Amino acid sequence: KEQVFSGVQPTGNLHLGNYLGAIVNFVALQSRFSCVYCVVDLHAITVWQDPAVLTRSIREVTAAFLAAGVDPKAHIVFNQSQVAEHAELAWVFNCVARLGWMNRMTQFKEKAGKDRENASLGLYAYPSLMAADILVYRATHVPIGEDQKQHLELTRDIAQKFNNDFRPQIEAKGFADGFFPMTEPLIGGPATRVMSLRDGTKKMSKSDPSDYSRINLADDSDTIAQKIKKAKTDPEPLPSEEKGLEGRAEADNLVGIYAALSGRQKAEVLAEFGGGQFSTFKTALIDLAVDKLGPITAEMRRLSADPAHIDAVLADGSERARVLASETMRHVKEIVGFVGR
Ligand code: TYM
Repeated sequence: KEQVFSGVQPTGNLHLGNYLGAIVNFVALQSRFSCVYCVVDLHAITVWQDPAVLTRSIREVTAAFLAAGVDPKAHIVFNQSQVAEHAELAWVFNCVARLGWMNRMTQFKEKAGKDRENASLGLYAYPSLMAADILVYRATHVPIGEDQKQHLELTRDIAQKFNNDFRPQIEAKGFADGFFPMTEPLIGGPATRVMSLRDGTKKMSKSDPSDYSRINLADDSDTIAQKIKKAKTDPEPLPSEEKGLEGRAEADNLVGIYAALSGRQKAEVLAEFGGGQFSTFKTALIDLAVDKLGPITAEMRRLSADPAHIDAVLADGSERARVLASETMRHVKEIVGFVGR
């Protein structure tokens, strides 16, 4: 059975990269798959979060899902901490995953920085919890941006080792092809890697100290205009062909954003704007961004004015997610050999 799962961290500053790299695809997949979309609050606290800000961010990410067009009735939208099975399966996976595998995770190295001794144990185990998120629904497809690819590879390694370590028990239960599927990442859609507006070699990120590095989904039109006007460029006019973007990371990124927001190819965008000045192109990009993001921002504001409604959506989604997750955990406990009811 095909099942989609994906998650977004409620760590503030939901941005254009999250939107184009993930949320747009969440919406598109709904017509073909049964989908579970999760606000991963357990992942958020691997780095200290101000509790009041965390609460607000959980609701903001939920509002963004809904505003972008995720249907919480036909599919499932919930926050991770309400379904205890995620943490429960993560513990089992902590005992399946090898230290050597975790030591290769580049996101840990980036996030822990130089002071690794002082990083939380949770940050180190983060990918194991992510594997549990996915596999507790035995998800077959996971839409993500480019930066999460390595975590999906680890998820497959964990699934495979679990399937091997407990092969006789799994077969005895009648699962002929292993218990956990080999989950496929879906890295596609309009923009798999949106870069910082200040530095075309760095990805757009929630944690960049400069707010001018990203367009937040919560930004109003004036702020979007300011940020695009100030976005780094080079002195050359735009090229007419895609080849001409090589070695021009900032130009490439802005053209990519324009293409993604307009649903066109970069080549088409360059056919229109190539040879022209950046200022002309930036004005067009501002109009496009405000036009496409404005309605989503407005709907997020409207939804955020009614937190009780958001919380009800999450409670309902959690209840339905728990039904699926507890079914998997029941099997896992039997497979591993735990005694239970
Ligand atoms: P997070 O919260 O950092 O980002 C959410 C999604 O947005 C994508 N993304 C980007 N895509 C394109 N360009 C960018 N600049 C950009 N920045 C972020 C991410 O790839 C992601 O798809 N570990 C995950 C959350 C998670 C998860 C999961 C995802 C936890 N459990 C299970 C999938 C399945 C994360 O930190 O995403």
